[in-house]
Amino acid sequence: MIGYGSKVIEGWAYAIAGSSFQRIRDLPGEGNPNVLVLRRGDQTEHLRGVAKLAMKIVDVFADAFPETSVNRDIVLAGALCHDIGKPFEFDLINRERWANDPSQAGEPALRHSVYGAHVCLTVGLPEEIAHIALGHSLEGQHIGLSTECYIVRHADHTWWHVAGALGLLKPVSLSGVGTMMRPRTLDDTHQK
Ligand SMILES: [Fe+2]
Repeated sequence: MIGYGSKVIEGWAYAIAGSSFQRIRDLPGEGNPNVLVLRRGDQTEHLRGVAKLAMKIVDVFADAFPETSVNRDIVLAGALCHDIGKPFEFDLINRERWANDPSQAGEPALRHSVYGAHVCLTVGLPEEIAHIALGHSLEGQHIGLSTECYIVRHADHTWWHVAGALGLLKPVSLSGVGTMMRPRTLDDTHQK
């Protein structure tokens, strides 16, 4: 991968090394712990999906409106890094420590969006990508968002909501999410 590829890999290596996980595939396919939980698959399905979806959004508008400008390298690297803080927030050792006494450091101490911005800056990724890690999630409601962050944020939210409507998420993990959603039953004959 050109662009920020080596720094993206370095960032994920840093995030994984600072956690109990051995690889990205070990991270459960969840939006937040116990919220938006995939029936099957892991976090890599989500990361690939958001990256592909974000780039398709860029292409659709670039094809129809060539007068628009988007930094494709930032969108791609930002999509791949937007959940780079999840190894910290999802780590069972961290979650158990926070749950045991939330009065010490909170619960969680830092959400994945905030910790993700820390990871990005620590490995030398530019502020534009750290901003996407921070701004894609709830925290983004409190700041102005770059165009590239806005695209990744919507690709991320779209991925989870469409996954829910397709019946790919555990119903119990959908409470309070997508009140208009009526998940479809999966066709078991096509399961991998
Ligand atoms: Fe995400």
